[in-house]
Amino acid sequence: MSTYDARFRIWRGDSDGGDLRDFTVEVHDGEVVLDIVHRLQATQAPDLAVRWNCKAGKCGSCSAEINGRPRLLCMTRMSVFDPSETISITPLRAFPVIRDLVTDVSFNYTKAREIPAFVPPNDVPAGAYRMHQVDVDRSQEFRKCIECFLCQDTCHVVRDHEENKPAFAGPRFLMRVAELDMHPLDAARQTGLDRKRTAQEEHGLGYCNITKCCTEVCPEGIRITDNALIPLKERVVDRKYDPLVWLGSKIPRRGKPT
Ligand code: SF4
Ligand code: F3S
Ligand code: FES
Repeated sequence: MSTYDARFRIWRGDSDGGDLRDFTVEVHDGEVVLDIVHRLQATQAPDLAVRWNCKAGKCGSCSAEINGRPRLLCMTRMSVFDPSETISITPLRAFPVIRDLVTDVSFNYTKAREIPAFVPPNDVPAGAYRMHQVDVDRSQEFRKCIECFLCQDTCHVVRDHEENKPAFAGPRFLMRVAELDMHPLDAARQTGLDRKRTAQEEHGLGYCNITKCCTEVCPEGIRITDNALIPLKERVVDRKYDPLVWLGSKIPRRGKPT
């Protein structure tokens, strides 16, 4: 087994501020960045805060920024770096720091709660739901999400613009709206909920200018922009400019104010 000493610059601090500290840590063959962080805790910095659970790219906990790029610590191999380079590890930039590499990602849970859940159809008995395979495949891609929030962290709409956070759900949750809007069994539309309208007016779809940075950092390889955000934008536009929809909106409905 070969080993070498690698140089790291790791952000240490808390909500009151902090700075980058230099460390030299031994690296073994086949290791990932999280292994190095654990060795650092074991040998030099026992109080270094880092969040992790599965070490297998499935829990979404170990999100941080490596050389400024949002990544999972447990899925980033040391072999992708030149042994002579200094590797920086910093907390997710779009969220408030709690301590060291741990950030407060509760923004995402707030946004998740703002999206009304799937409504099962009440005219189909449970167990008798049927969908075309093409519809299953489309939402299954979005279901691979591990909620690491790397896409949320990288999107420029909130990354450098804290002021946009109240109005913008971010790619992960706009993808959720898109998934529900394309779900053929979602009965929310029969209750009067128009997910296309809420995407635009409540979840900030219009802020997205399809830069695709979210797709580039997604560790699950979900094509967030091409398969969720762009189709959702197209459906919003179709609905807005469809002459039949326009005409329908002008016809007064019984029991509704005109
Ligand atoms: Fe992470 Fe991808 Fe889910 Fe975004 S869509 S939270 S990047 S797994
Ligand atoms: Fe942001 Fe992704 Fe749109 S990075 S701007 S949500 S394509
Ligand atoms: Fe679970 Fe990295 S520790 S995704």
